[in-house]
Amino acid sequence: MKLNYPHFHLIFGVHLLLSWLAEAASGDPNRFFYHNYLEGNGNGEIHFSGVKLHVESTQHPVYAVRGGNATLPCRYWYKPELSSSRKVRVKWSWLPATGGHETDVLVAIGYRNRSFGDFRGRVLLRQDFPGDATLVMNELKLNDTGRYRCEVVDGLEDKSALVDLELQGVVFPYQPPHGRYHLNFQGAQQACEEQDSVLATFEQLYQAWKEGLDWCNAGWLADETVQYPITQPRMPCGGHGIAPGVRTYGKRHRHLHYYDVFCFSSSLRGEVYYLHLKLNLTEARAACQEDGAEIAKVGQLYAAWKLTGLDHCDAGWLADGSLRYPVTRPRRNCGPSEPGVRSFGFPPPQHKHGVYCYRSTDE
Ligand SMILES: *[C@@H]1O[C@H](CO)[C@@H](O)[C@H](O)[C@H]1NC(C)=O
Ligand SMILES: *[C@@H]1O[C@H](CO)[C@@H](O)[C@H](O)[C@H]1NC(C)=O
Ligand SMILES: *[C@@H]1O[C@H](CO)[C@@H](O)[C@H](O)[C@H]1NC(C)=O
Ligand SMILES: *[C@@H]1O[C@H](CO)[C@@H](O)[C@H](O)[C@H]1NC(C)=O
Repeated sequence: MKLNYPHFHLIFGVHLLLSWLAEAASGDPNRFFYHNYLEGNGNGEIHFSGVKLHVESTQHPVYAVRGGNATLPCRYWYKPELSSSRKVRVKWSWLPATGGHETDVLVAIGYRNRSFGDFRGRVLLRQDFPGDATLVMNELKLNDTGRYRCEVVDGLEDKSALVDLELQGVVFPYQPPHGRYHLNFQGAQQACEEQDSVLATFEQLYQAWKEGLDWCNAGWLADETVQYPITQPRMPCGGHGIAPGVRTYGKRHRHLHYYDVFCFSSSLRGEVYYLHLKLNLTEARAACQEDGAEIAKVGQLYAAWKLTGLDHCDAGWLADGSLRYPVTRPRRNCGPSEPGVRSFGFPPPQHKHGVYCYRSTDE
């Protein structure tokens, strides 16, 4: 090895050194981190010739939908410009919107690349032109939102740029059948998952508040804070004296404190529709199944209402045993004067109503 240890350490960083050691130990054939660096024998010189590396992404968040694709731009260049191309290491990592640690998404050197964890097989580098380090993501999941870092390393030069990924979707408050303020943080996470959604982030709740969401019960968010959005200040919801806004109780204890929850859902690969029949809850589930579908979940009804304009003035059963209907064009005898998903809570399961079914277009 030509490089002595401290130099090696600087170039690779502790993390990469460790991952190389781990891979070397496991006999993983993908030991490209190490090999390619030694090939690129010009690396390191750049630092001393006054050439600077620059990396840039976009200032604006990138918006996408669940199941769709996203393109996170990133490009790098040298100043002064170089005549020959160089082999750099590009690394994308992700800080989830839910908080937690930055985790690896993809590492590439030249045309060799590797993706990690949940991102394996659904991310790639675009590399359309010299200096293009744009990340293309497929089959987006609800929990892919957050801050992505594009890092480019050439010898001792190490520069990065950040870009936020947001999903278009809908935030909805959720209260389980057994009533108000019955969910600790874990219960809240599970409640959202059962409704085909995830815990909303603060950014998602804030966006929903800007679009008019007003809800006077406090709910968990993904960052373990408890908040509620008020557009029309009134007495039981913090009082008249306080300006409209998202009110926060701050971070609460994830096991000991109980609230409702705000869930987030995005576009569906399928359709929500209404079956106009008189059914109890058991019959309602069966009717959707006989129709090649499933009884719809609350997150699916909200997504269909918000993203495809589902509008139906008939209350129908949903999977959690609640009774609701979606209205995009408010009219007489169809609830309040604002659009919304109307809820009748959880009626006795023997009552007879119609049902909302969800038919997925996935296999
Ligand atoms: C996403 O990209 C893949 C190819 O990478 C393409 O087949 C698919 O149609 C794209 N999906 C959408 C929703 O654009
Ligand atoms: C990344 O690796 C895959 C297979 O490992 C390859 O198909 C692809 O062309 C590589 N390059 C880029 C830029 O993604
Ligand atoms: C994200 O959601 C998927 C299901 O859509 C799940 O398999 C995965 O574990 C979740 N990832 C994280 C980091 O929570
Ligand atoms: C619904 O009606 C069926 C008979 O059609 C009955 O077997 C079932 O127990 C009823 N379920 C409920 C929840 O009342």
